[in-house]
Amino acid sequence: MAQQVRGVVARRKGEPVRIETVNVPDPGPGEAVVDVRTCGVCHTDLHYREGGINDEFPFLLGHEAAGVVESVGPDVAGVAPGDFVILNWRAVCGQCRACLRGRPWYCFDTHNAGQPMTLEDGTALSPALGIGAFADKTLVAAGQCTKVDPTVSPAAAGLLGCGVMAGLGAAINTGGVGRGDSVAVIGCGGVGAAAVVGARLAGAARIIAVDIDDAKLTTAQQLGATHTVNSRGTDPIEAVRELTGGFGADVVIDAVGIPETYRQAFYARDLAGTVVLVGVPTPDMTLELPLLDVFGRGGALKSSWYGDCLPSRDFPMLIDLYAQGRLDLDAFVTETIPLDGVEAAFARMESGRVLRSVVEL
Ligand SMILES: NC(=O)c1ccc[n+]([C@@H]2O[C@H](COP(=O)([O-])OP(=O)(O)OC[C@H]3O[C@@H](n4cnc5c(N)ncnc54)[C@H](O)[C@@H]3O)[C@@H](O)[C@H]2O)c1
Ligand SMILES: [Zn+2]
Ligand SMILES: [Zn+2]
Repeated sequence: MAQQVRGVVARRKGEPVRIETVNVPDPGPGEAVVDVRTCGVCHTDLHYREGGINDEFPFLLGHEAAGVVESVGPDVAGVAPGDFVILNWRAVCGQCRACLRGRPWYCFDTHNAGQPMTLEDGTALSPALGIGAFADKTLVAAGQCTKVDPTVSPAAAGLLGCGVMAGLGAAINTGGVGRGDSVAVIGCGGVGAAAVVGARLAGAARIIAVDIDDAKLTTAQQLGATHTVNSRGTDPIEAVRELTGGFGADVVIDAVGIPETYRQAFYARDLAGTVVLVGVPTPDMTLELPLLDVFGRGGALKSSWYGDCLPSRDFPMLIDLYAQGRLDLDAFVTETIPLDGVEAAFARMESGRVLRSVVEL
């Protein structure tokens, strides 16, 4: 039986989000309905509301979630009702060109199945990143459910579903940070702070956190940054070079994603170093760089989609590290909020006081 639940919907560009009644169809072939337990508020949800991702309003927001599988459709083998899962926006399909070439972290064959979730009047909803988890229940592709140890805190575990995985993976998978490397992270919100943690896990010797907000820098330091730079008053390119013997960092991660920070990342890295862009730019942004510098500075300019993660490989492994006390996911949960607190959480996100607000359902 199709169900009616509460969900946080963005109807029009820039308009405050509202709780609406959402129709959740029964799962079709290859699908699952998940009883959502927690969902973090990620900057990408705000990008959706601002029309920065696409114009397919109305959106059912929320995509950083943990929950319990309620029911599955036909032809579902990997998960069963009662399983505790983290939702992912990379349901590796095994069939597309990327998968067949052995690069499943580039698989973008997301859920495009039968019945959509709708508003009460039947208007189809676009679930953020194919998930839509600011809702009591959501309908996803079964491959978007990754089963993990059910004894851990759902609020912390769910963060691996997006921002924390994106940041950890930007450092570990995309940036290939290695033992002894120097790393700079520009922008230390949820994603950047996770990149700091990833750099530390990977054995970086020097981790320089850059932000325009001192509170974020303090948190970054608690999470493993060895140095901090407030780029409001200090040129971050000069500062990173000074802290790396005049060379620049081996890997610079831009977790803001605007032309100014990308340019800083480009010039704050050592010759032949790596820039990783994990912050998401908006469609109006352009970048101008001397082509001779692109050539002359060598190295790699990479983008990181979801930290180049493989949910089936990375989520259980990271939850294991969390359970052992070697990865502090709790540090990312600044506050837990009710479902009607998302709009206020967007405002707090912009004020810079919060690493992650997590909706508990
Ligand atoms: N690539 C991916 O797969 C992926 C996944 C999740 C999120 N994201 C993107 O990552 C970005 C960060 O997300 P978040 O949730 O951490 O956001 P956030 O709002 O929590 O953090 C942004 C941080 O950047 C800082 N900042 C802003 N302008 C700055 C500047 N000019 N210089 C230095 N620091 C600055 C802020 O003070 C804040 O600490 C967003 O663009 C988001 O859409 C990307
Ligand atoms: Zn694929
Ligand atoms: Zn996100």
